[in-house]
Amino acid sequence: MTTIRSVVLGCGSYLPEHILTNAELASRIDTSDEWIVQRTGIRQRHIAAPGEFTSHLAIKAAKAALANAGVDAQSIDLIVLATSTPDNTFPATAVSVQNGLGINHGAAFDLQAVCSGFIFALATADNFLRTGAFKRALVIGAETFSRILDWNDRGTCVLFGDGAGALVLDAQPQQGNTSDRGVLTTHLRSDGRHKMKLYVDGGPSSTQSVGHLRMEGREVFKHAVGMITDVIEDAFKATNTGPNDIDWLVPHQANKRIIDASAQKLHIAPQKVVLTVDSHGNTSAASIPLALSVAVADKRIKPNDLVMLEAMGGGFTWGSALVRW
Ligand code: ACO
Repeated sequence: MTTIRSVVLGCGSYLPEHILTNAELASRIDTSDEWIVQRTGIRQRHIAAPGEFTSHLAIKAAKAALANAGVDAQSIDLIVLATSTPDNTFPATAVSVQNGLGINHGAAFDLQAVCSGFIFALATADNFLRTGAFKRALVIGAETFSRILDWNDRGTCVLFGDGAGALVLDAQPQQGNTSDRGVLTTHLRSDGRHKMKLYVDGGPSSTQSVGHLRMEGREVFKHAVGMITDVIEDAFKATNTGPNDIDWLVPHQANKRIIDASAQKLHIAPQKVVLTVDSHGNTSAASIPLALSVAVADKRIKPNDLVMLEAMGGGFTWGSALVRW
């Protein structure tokens, strides 16, 4: 039976020029390269320049994705942008991106699910494309987390970085089985009982200020592996696939220890795991499309490869998506 799938036409990314190394951080606060690498796998992160906003990163990533897909911006009728660091409280950063791309038809909106934002945005766009509401979508993850970090809190400021990544999705008829190209299944979860374990201590309604990121790192770590593996297993079950069927696991890049433990629990071979946390840090909603762009550019991910995406983050929120490239 023919079905409509959201097929990936291309992907792209953008990282700010300035690189902040662990050694530079260690010269400012009481930390060390050894501590950061051993606990997280992070060696460096990119930091947006003064005046460089989330929308600027997103526009550059979107243009790279459109070029990679070989399609014109005017063919896009939906933009879903995942971010927790919008340019302004409103309007949505997505409309600045839409305007920056010279598009004034269709719809553009932001979506906020913190580090799981890209998976939630992908699932949202996929549902709109499959119903026929829109035909071609840009799904973007873009963040300037450097702006919400407490640079005196060594427990959090060493973990995050700035960046953006984007995918172009196209509604295309497919056969309706797991050999199809495109998004095969998505699984989204959240549990607000954990909302104070990773949060920003400000906002328009509560403090009328932006606030800073606060985190109980051990609590996040404790829940992360179980949540990630559960939702990947949901994707396996829904598609009657397993760890041996996937070509690549492209996880949210929070922490190498969380990624390694999740892959090991699921019996996914380490050589199938795409890792960029060492050079990007945790870029929240941007980390998955940034990692995808790296693995597509270096030709690891090829057309028809089966790619598992997963993320977990503030809320808590978590989710997975299985995509045939
Ligand atoms: N440099 C040196 N020492 C540090 C640093 C630092 N940057 N940060 C904390 N410490 C110290 C602490 O002060 C503490 O010292 P003490 O024992 O004298 O009190 C010691 O290191 C241990 O602190 P913990 O917070 O218990 O360290 P832990 O081993 O849990 O590692 C970490 C911290 C890396 C944050 C870990 O808990 C973790 O990875 N958690 C997951 C959080 C995460 O990845 N969040 C990302 C967002 S959520 C997501 O994207 C999934």
